[in-house]
Amino acid sequence: MRRKIVAGNWKMNLDYITGVGLFSEIVNMVNDEVIGDQEIIVCPPYVHLSAISQLAKSHRNVSVGAQNCHQADSGAFTGEVSASMLQSIGVEYVIIGHSERRQYFAESDSLLAEKVNSVLKNQLNPIFCIGETLDERNQNSHFEVIKRQLSDGLFHLEEGEFERVILAYEPVWAIGTGLTATPEQAQEIHEFIREEVENKYGSDIAQNISILYGGSCNPKNAAELFAKPDIDGGLIGGASLKSRDFVDIIKSFGK
Ligand code: PGA
Repeated sequence: MRRKIVAGNWKMNLDYITGVGLFSEIVNMVNDEVIGDQEIIVCPPYVHLSAISQLAKSHRNVSVGAQNCHQADSGAFTGEVSASMLQSIGVEYVIIGHSERRQYFAESDSLLAEKVNSVLKNQLNPIFCIGETLDERNQNSHFEVIKRQLSDGLFHLEEGEFERVILAYEPVWAIGTGLTATPEQAQEIHEFIREEVENKYGSDIAQNISILYGGSCNPKNAAELFAKPDIDGGLIGGASLKSRDFVDIIKSFGK
């Protein structure tokens, strides 16, 4: 069954005390206000993960994700954190391929494929991000870019592995800019992504996979985006740092 998901990507924001406080606020508001079967994933910085994973244990529909991991399980990689370490503290998801990782840390499609493998091997689930830059959209190459990101980063997976992936379409020009893709622009790409998945893995898997939209999603535009047939939720940056906004986005399904 296709799952409805809202994931919050805190990026490199909030000190430890503030982060744990925000998480507690979110889960309390979710308990009081959210009815429905949507799943919530919160992705704080590494240093918050251990404490927040402990807190998340008592909340049925709230899980914790990391924002990155190294592709190896262990070794001489100073400053890095592996998927097996994340798994050992109760983390369930890892964002892989965020455009900020691709852009600022030069993460290539082939490196991302290795990271996905490591995440899956360690019983975690990847939230795999794809999306075109403004230049690529202006040159009308957005479909081609997305096709390449899917095939080079993910389409080496076996069916049973691919089923564990959550996809996130995040047009780079919409991230943190206040420019949201219109619901129609987003739906067009989500439909294209689902078709590509269908061509590779067949219609059952394509129908069941969740494809999230990310890029300046907020409480005002979420309901219209989530109402589109191929948009199954959101990956939220800025608005996930405010409990009221994040929970209002979680409540936007079916509005
Ligand atoms: P934004 O970020 O919601 O602040 O645009 C989304 C993301 O980068 O995941």
